[in-house]
Amino acid sequence: MRSVNLKVNGISHQFVVDEERVLLDLLREDLRLTGAKQSCDRKGQCGACTVIVNGKTVRSCLTKVGTLEGAEILTVEGLGTPDNPHLIQEAFVLAGAIQCGYCTPGLIMSTKALLDGNPNPDRKEIKGALKRNLCRCTGYQRIIEAVELAGRFLRGEAKPGDLQGDANAAQIGVSHTRPWSLLKACGAAEFSADIRVPGALELAVVRSPHHHARLKGIDYQDAQKMPGVVGVMTAKDIKGTNSIGVAAQDQPLLCDDVLPALGAAVAIVAARTKKEAQAAAEAVRVEYEVLPRMKTPEEAVAEGAPEIHPGTPNLCHSRRQIKGDADAALDSSAAVVSGEFYSQLIHQAPLEPEAAVAYMEGEGEDAQLVVIGRSIWIHFHAQVLQNALGWGNIRYQEAFTGGQFGIKVDITSEGIAAAAALHFHQPVRYIPSLKESLLMTTKRHPFRMQVRLGADAKGKLTGLAMDFTVENGAYMSIGPEVINRALGMLSGGYNIPNVQAEGKLVYTNNAWGGAARGAGPPQANFALESAMDLLAAKVGMDPYEFRRINVLQPGQSVSSGYVAEEWAFNACLERLKPEYERAVQDARNFKSGSLRRGVGLAGSSFGIGDPGDTSHVAVELDPDGGLTVYCSVADPGEGNDAMLVQIAAHLMDLPRNKIRLVTRDTEKTPDSGVSAGSRQTYMSGRSMAMAIEALKSALKEVGGDTHADLVKAGKPTRYLAGHTLPHTGMDPETGQGQVWGSFCHGVQMAEVEVDMETGEVRILKMTAVVDPGTVINPVAVASQLEGGMDMGAGMALREEYVHGETVDWATYKFPTMNTTFDMETILLESPRKDGPLGATGVGEFTLVPTHPAIINAIDNAAGVRICELPATPAKILAGLKAD
Ligand code: FES
Ligand code: FES
Repeated sequence: MRSVNLKVNGISHQFVVDEERVLLDLLREDLRLTGAKQSCDRKGQCGACTVIVNGKTVRSCLTKVGTLEGAEILTVEGLGTPDNPHLIQEAFVLAGAIQCGYCTPGLIMSTKALLDGNPNPDRKEIKGALKRNLCRCTGYQRIIEAVELAGRFLRGEAKPGDLQGDANAAQIGVSHTRPWSLLKACGAAEFSADIRVPGALELAVVRSPHHHARLKGIDYQDAQKMPGVVGVMTAKDIKGTNSIGVAAQDQPLLCDDVLPALGAAVAIVAARTKKEAQAAAEAVRVEYEVLPRMKTPEEAVAEGAPEIHPGTPNLCHSRRQIKGDADAALDSSAAVVSGEFYSQLIHQAPLEPEAAVAYMEGEGEDAQLVVIGRSIWIHFHAQVLQNALGWGNIRYQEAFTGGQFGIKVDITSEGIAAAAALHFHQPVRYIPSLKESLLMTTKRHPFRMQVRLGADAKGKLTGLAMDFTVENGAYMSIGPEVINRALGMLSGGYNIPNVQAEGKLVYTNNAWGGAARGAGPPQANFALESAMDLLAAKVGMDPYEFRRINVLQPGQSVSSGYVAEEWAFNACLERLKPEYERAVQDARNFKSGSLRRGVGLAGSSFGIGDPGDTSHVAVELDPDGGLTVYCSVADPGEGNDAMLVQIAAHLMDLPRNKIRLVTRDTEKTPDSGVSAGSRQTYMSGRSMAMAIEALKSALKEVGGDTHADLVKAGKPTRYLAGHTLPHTGMDPETGQGQVWGSFCHGVQMAEVEVDMETGEVRILKMTAVVDPGTVINPVAVASQLEGGMDMGAGMALREEYVHGETVDWATYKFPTMNTTFDMETILLESPRKDGPLGATGVGEFTLVPTHPAIINAIDNAAGVRICELPATPAKILAGLKAD
């Protein structure tokens, strides 16, 4: 132990700490300053914990408090508060650089240190100063712009007021700032690990070290007696079904028999401190019978392969799609290309680990189990947990959430926390490491796809045949839905008269797939858009022109047979034409040593609104004339809160500060469904508009316009509305039917540079032309596109989850500040029929065309066709050598 004197945010403190105490713990645990976050496992990889010590940035997770005698420490809370923000915090808000906001405090502190030393940095200097700060949401472009804007503010060249806009400006089509972004910029937004429940026990989980094993026995007698340990629980302590899942409840919260995947949970240890819990978890002795691991779908469906879930075949789902006669069309086509394509296992990589807290409120059988976690589907998750735990009274509250990209369609840590709080009857916190979070979460499904695509002598598409095998991994999650989604958008934006496809889903003993931005179409679109370029070359047409002549027209049908009434894809392609011609010329004119440049295109018409999808939203007219919106619409960074506020303000003709959101609490908010599938604007925005319509009708009926008028007339002040999409979806035999309520259309163009000696690829620019219906908030839409393109670039070039090897942010390489590239987004607007004010969703479309556009650009630059993602330098060099 030693005594240390230091100043934090201008206040002097004396601490007595042990030698190992790090600054991050001192700030978060002792001083309750939770602005500094932890994403990596204290390995210096994420920068979320960045603070300033004596004028210089440090990663507080690596900084021993004992070395800080006399130091002056500045955290994001000391920089400014929501009532009195610092100019840098305002710049981040106004530049639209904050989505989930988990990375934001660290980035702001890095910016502060940079601008203190260099008031007018150029882009290279900005990238250099912020290169240790990861962000998964934004694509970094707006972060760089925020730093530049902060510099202008600090140099007195601009004021926040110049950008804050006119209070009387329109509510729709204007980039108003998001409701909580200032809170996030000031470190005041509370994420799950920031929520302090007095007396909460810390949890650790015993997990299987095997990919496939049978549990033979657990001995926790010694662990139970270790210091600080309150208890150990196993599957036998769970009173309910002990099963969670989405399409099938095939995942035990705690396993008691077969453990089908690395990291499957076996036991929970509760202790006074995390260290004590972890020490005891390591002391739990588990006897396993190691079973053969089925590593690939081929092994899993081989003759004699054991069933991973006894009673369910490893080939657990398949679906066909038949439109016309693809075989006959391909046999008689003037040109046909064929190939096999593979898209890899990918982690969604939200920066926030899977933290959750839980506690019992009340006593006895009436007690309520309260869960606070990262769910984007609180009503469904509460219901699944009720069944799994055998406890009917569960309330789920979603905290601020550090990104998710679909990962929280499934229950993870909250299941563990809820089970422990119920069993031990004490509040608990479960804050797993990143390594553990990687083990417990879903991934993007790998697809292996065999494709044939044909065209006639004029280049018109004739037929598509695509068979694909989807590796489901150890649990079902949303597996069948991924196949349905891939089939439902199979023909993209194009008119393909004949289609024959089949998707097969196969269990293996690997990490399991789940919702992951787009979930199915990004994988299938890689094969389709690669084949489009191959076929364009075969018929001797420019890839742009080939796409243009094959665009689906209203009145023609997509691969599921649905006849399109509107199809904005063509307008997007037309709008891209001058950019494409410029880019092709630039690439042709470029010559520099071993470097070659190329241009690639890809598009997508992305479906939104599943058959039977339902959402409910309520609104209440407040006594002061404001409006409260009640809904369970999660917003882990997409901008759903801004969407709700702006639509409500527009429809009610109110200033935005009169719109109050009550969201994400099963006790207070109706079920608005999951914040996935890009559905919330289209579904919940519309439900809210319907509820407002009902309120306005009531006001009209009483001839008034206030809360008091309604009360006086005996009318309710609160109105609930819900709607359900009527279409029934695909026929199970033919895959034909109306699959979606709405579409988002767009095309993207990649400009890349390939080093022919090293195989390295540098993305120079991505250009996206998108029509998402009516644009509610242009910056919110553009920043979704930028983040999606960055994620798509990761999928194209570097991301791959490797079992047993991917354990942190060094072994899972997603894009960083160093790999960022120029992005241009061009928004077109053609209002959609059923969307609120004509809007639809855009959040997932954003990466669907990105990786194929990049892969097509690599081929254009270097003459190397990459069929297996990611396009690593080694694969490109191998392709060059093969020529
Ligand atoms: S938590 Fe400190 S760098 Fe990641
Ligand atoms: S806004 Fe950067 S990680 Fe989400």
